[in-house]
Amino acid sequence: MDYAATRQEALTRIAAAQDLEVLEKLRVEFLGKQGSVSALLKTLGAMSPEQRQAEGPQIHALREGVTEALASRKAGLESAALEARLAAETVDLSLPAPEAPRGTVHPVSQVMDELAEIFADLGFAVASGPEIEDDWHNFTALNMPESHPARAMHDTFYFPEEEGQSGRMLLRTHTSPVQIRTMLKDGAPLRIIAPGRVYRSDSDATHTPMFHQVEGLVIDKGIHLGHLKWTLETFLKAFFEREDIVLRLRPSYFPFTEPSVEVDVGFALVNGPDGKSRRVLGGSGDAPGHGWMELLGSGMVNRKVIEFGGLDPDEWQGFAFGIGVDRLAMLKYGMDDLRAFFDGDQRWLAHYGFSALDVPTLSGGVGTPA
Ligand code: DAH
Repeated sequence: MDYAATRQEALTRIAAAQDLEVLEKLRVEFLGKQGSVSALLKTLGAMSPEQRQAEGPQIHALREGVTEALASRKAGLESAALEARLAAETVDLSLPAPEAPRGTVHPVSQVMDELAEIFADLGFAVASGPEIEDDWHNFTALNMPESHPARAMHDTFYFPEEEGQSGRMLLRTHTSPVQIRTMLKDGAPLRIIAPGRVYRSDSDATHTPMFHQVEGLVIDKGIHLGHLKWTLETFLKAFFEREDIVLRLRPSYFPFTEPSVEVDVGFALVNGPDGKSRRVLGGSGDAPGHGWMELLGSGMVNRKVIEFGGLDPDEWQGFAFGIGVDRLAMLKYGMDDLRAFFDGDQRWLAHYGFSALDVPTLSGGVGTPA
């Protein structure tokens, strides 16, 4: 038996194996139970001692050589397979960058961010509540019981009444229910703003069925109207980026505040570049060529509302305010039709939108200084 030739032939066939399947077949052919090399090993038992001494080492060397060749060919084929897979599976992690970034931040989002920045600087946290609200939080707990005439002014979208339900569900008509939710959840003291969507069945150039408000609520000890006035003045000066903002507090009525004040801001009428006159905020509304514009509702939180919020009104006082966010955006950035805010017209959005990378911060300025 020519072991050297057998070995050479086996190694040549192993080296020529093109895949793991073929290689496995060769392993079985040589080293399997019925394999040719295994069969040679079995012949050792029947040999004479001299023959075994002469042929034993050759047979063992044959088995070792074949085993080694199989292992190294297997490793070679496996690493080639891995290389091929890695090459085929290359992932391009880079995003194609558009030449000009598309998409802009809506003025309402921008203004909400500005509000949050300014109030955060005054120590206010941002609170929120559900847009699908219950009658109790939206009305009753804000001192508007069933028969209250102020309810009629809200043009409420109600959901159909469901059996066994204590109060009807509705789309919140204002952000004020967040006052109640926050008092019940967090107790006192409190300093929050609550920006968000509100809904009323109303539609014309200055009203849309969905619009945005920001609620403000401060609950603490010894709070009075002076705190309210300072807070609103500080906020409006920062928001409109003008030091000459002048406010007028006018007595008013809201069920959830007592006393209630409506806040007007002074403006001047100036001629715009298009010849039309424009309102520019600043200065007293009583000055010649000036006027007062109603901006927001506010007041000292009604004792009953503090009670509905689970707090003792003899211990805790507070002020609250509610501002139309869309109106703030219109005044600051010069849009005159509210409906365009929600039309989704690309041209309007491209014109009035803000760059996504231009995040307002107080340190960087909330906008471009005038
Ligand atoms: N919730 C009122 C509204 O829709 C606005 C408002 C007025 C909120 C006075 C207040 C407030 O917090 O004190 O129209």
